Amino acid sequence: MTPDRTVLRAATPDDDSFVIEMARHACVIEDRPLPDPDDDEVLEMLPPAGVVPIIAQDHNGTSVGAVWTYYGSPPLRCDAAGVPLPELCIAVAPGHRGVGIGGMLLDALFAALVQSHDAMCTNVHVRNPAKKLYERKGFRAVGQGNGPLGLALIKDLR
Ligand SMILES: CC(C)(COP(=O)(O)OP(=O)(O)OC[C@H]1O[C@@H](n2cnc3c(N)ncnc32)[C@H](O)[C@@H]1OP(=O)(O)O)[C@@H](O)C(=O)NCCC(=O)NCCS
Repeated sequence: MTPDRTVLRAATPDDDSFVIEMARHACVIEDRPLPDPDDDEVLEMLPPAGVVPIIAQDHNGTSVGAVWTYYGSPPLRCDAAGVPLPELCIAVAPGHRGVGIGGMLLDALFAALVQSHDAMCTNVHVRNPAKKLYERKGFRAVGQGNGPLGLALIKDLR
């Protein structure tokens, strides 16, 4: 399913507060309280210098989702040469989930990242329904992620 009239665009500095809001959502499983904007987990997930998030915008011009990559410390996974893989950060605003926006954002991220990376990774809570979406999009479980209920997933881009 693809959401009608949703467009993707590169983030600008005007999107900074929306990007922080999406990072807060990406930190938690649905229905749990969002962390503060200056929580360490949120700050770590924010796009590093040089990384431009992709924003999904609805037909009214309202931002409804975002995706980008960052580098966690310590890295979740490295490639065979020991170079950290970029980690996924994605969220779709509540009320807009389940209609294909997350899938659309992931496809756009893969298309952009493939130019510079062989693979990327993500951490997902074992009970997060996002796991199903990630697997459908080609991520495979590779073992322990962050915390006791975290699972590390890798997506080969090439
Ligand atoms: C995970 C997330 C980005 C997916 O975006 P989305 O637009 O809802 O995803 P899509 O509509 O493209 O795909 C739907 C799939 O996403 C998963 N999903 C996760 N949360 C969902 C929700 N609230 N509603 C529907 N699907 C959800 C399901 O696997 C679903 O697959 P299914 O349709 O086969 O059941 C979004 O639900 C979200 O922001 N969740 C909260 C933040 C989060 O968990 N981020 C990831 C951290 S690892």
